[in-house]
Amino acid sequence: MSKILKFPDGFLWGAATSAHQVEGNNYNDWSEWEKKNAEKLAREARTKYAKWQREKFPEMFEPANYISGAAADHYNRYESDFDIAKSLRHTAHRFSIEWSRVEPEEGKWDEKEIEHYRDVARTLRARGIEPFVTLWHWPLPIWLSAKGGWESPDAIDCFERYVRKIVLPLRDDVHFWITINEPEIYAINTHLKGIWPPQKKSMAGYFRCVQTLIRAHKRAYHAIKESSHHASVGTARDIVYFDRYNIKIIDSIFRKPLDWWWNYYFFNKFKRHQDFIGVNSYFRKKIGLKSAQNMSDMGWGLYSKTLYHSLIGLKKYKVPIYVTEHGLADADDSRRAQFIKESLRYLHTAIEGGVQVKGYLHWSLFDNFEWDKGFWPRFGLVAVDFKTQKRTIRPSAYEYAKICKENAIAGDD
Ligand code: BGC
Repeated sequence: MSKILKFPDGFLWGAATSAHQVEGNNYNDWSEWEKKNAEKLAREARTKYAKWQREKFPEMFEPANYISGAAADHYNRYESDFDIAKSLRHTAHRFSIEWSRVEPEEGKWDEKEIEHYRDVARTLRARGIEPFVTLWHWPLPIWLSAKGGWESPDAIDCFERYVRKIVLPLRDDVHFWITINEPEIYAINTHLKGIWPPQKKSMAGYFRCVQTLIRAHKRAYHAIKESSHHASVGTARDIVYFDRYNIKIIDSIFRKPLDWWWNYYFFNKFKRHQDFIGVNSYFRKKIGLKSAQNMSDMGWGLYSKTLYHSLIGLKKYKVPIYVTEHGLADADDSRRAQFIKESLRYLHTAIEGGVQVKGYLHWSLFDNFEWDKGFWPRFGLVAVDFKTQKRTIRPSAYEYAKICKENAIAGDD
């Protein structure tokens, strides 16, 4: 008989989404960039992806794949979507607020949209699901991008004003606030690699963006704490497991500084500004390691111990940790259940090792719009037919539901 691994009482189980990826019909800097770039992205797919990916996902050659459009229509379907989450025994759910809906013009608030998000939070609560609210998951309102986005001199003031406007009406229903999703990924893709809007490529611009986002988080942290006494505030950060390299000098020159910069720099800056740490865990990187044997549809290696390594390094911050994203694109659902189970056993090992992990939110509740890749990567526990909006619960979702229900997992299969 295999050993049963129990998780701590009150451990939160659920899934995560973000507004632009699921809501549909957003109007922001991303939606406009998509329209301008869809044809180019469809053309580039011929050389950007591996043969097996091109064969498996021919929709990547269609410009429509790259336009978020109606997405998963979650804006209109959140009630029934949360019924599904409840039926899957989720006790927590992470969603984001779309800034461009709430403040469509600078300084002008759309109270109906604020009410909408209040209702989203209440709908979760009514189902016994704890909301985790992300205040900014990447798209910017058009008016802000027009004046330079995060490079605008008053961007941080604008962000703080928006945060204050949202927190007050939602504070009774929301305890967990994530100010910014993956500032490091945003800064690198928008300001260094130039692949996401506003597509800049400058080392200095990248460092400036990083510093701006750090300051924005700190301002938002204080704004939330002033508005809500029971608020618990953090960020969701992409944590990469930089695997050790056996030639010591290479390890010291390359791996260690990278590890410090990517994984710890932000948290060191946030030391006095974080009540919890949100971990988004997808990647293991090793110098010289070209391709993994077991891969997701994205071509990302599936190495379940990554979650353990990502968590153990954060023990030193001595604050609760929530896994705010972890998952894989797996259209035929052939690897998801196994990957979740193996990863959760490692998460349990991290808890036994003294890391205060208090919850796990899988990415994602349902299939959605994967930024510059569009719709072909299927990250959902629940499949979405984007033509009919039909939801189909994948088998892996039921296996995960069993773990959520029992707050435990078998030590092996
Ligand atoms: C982001 C999500 C994204 C996921 C999978 C994370 O970096 O926060 O928006 O869909 O990774 O790529």
